[in-house]
Amino acid sequence: VFHTPELTPAEPTPDCAIAIDVLRATTTMATALNAGAEAVQVFSSIDELMQVSEAWLPEKRLRAGERGGAKVPGCDLGNSPLDCTPEVVGGRRLFISTTNGTRCLERVQHATTVLTGALINRSAVVSYLLQHQPELVWMVGSGWEGSFSLEDTVCAGAILYSLSQQLAASGQSLEAIAGNDEVFGAIALYTQWQDQLLQLLHHASHGQRLLRLNGHADLEYCAQTDILNILPIQKEPGVLIKQTL
Ligand code: MLT
Repeated sequence: VFHTPELTPAEPTPDCAIAIDVLRATTTMATALNAGAEAVQVFSSIDELMQVSEAWLPEKRLRAGERGGAKVPGCDLGNSPLDCTPEVVGGRRLFISTTNGTRCLERVQHATTVLTGALINRSAVVSYLLQHQPELVWMVGSGWEGSFSLEDTVCAGAILYSLSQQLAASGQSLEAIAGNDEVFGAIALYTQWQDQLLQLLHHASHGQRLLRLNGHADLEYCAQTDILNILPIQKEPGVLIKQTL
């Protein structure tokens, strides 16, 4: 049963939670793990990030901090996925704090399994769901400071659309697994925009914020679908590693 995407249901704890922040935290996490980062550790507070990462050798850590779309002074990186090249992140742990995405992950960290989803690794998320068939799934969009976001909902829709196509091939219907009406709303949003995802990111309020900060290349990268076969999965609360499928 799938619940998506903006409101975290109060009960019960899900078998699987998928945190989604297309612009840009979960896109950045998948990219960093694909580029060879040893792990990604998330924090809601920059102070805590600085304290915990202090125990790591400088050559083994990278500190990434973003607020309001901009890099936090004193951090090595902001939150651009394009900075996460093998040369920069290879063999290091990425300690990251962002405005919404890392808070979203902290909210769902008690689920039995925690994954992160973005458009770039949509097919990896779908493969995991088909293989493991978790009973109760939350798809939680990070939104912006508590409110709805177009890009996270369209990503939930992209995951659900692909899943429903594959379930239909084996005679199962989406109606049988949809836990709430948002599931159908997210799929409708995706089917309307699937060939114009970059344009959708340009319409999104956070997309516009990033464009004002010269984020054109980031939007182009984040709008791509199924380019990385990488699944960030939580191995302990707040720490994600890569599961290759
Ligand atoms: C967030 O966590 O709010 C975002 O990832 C913001 C950003 O684009 O850096």
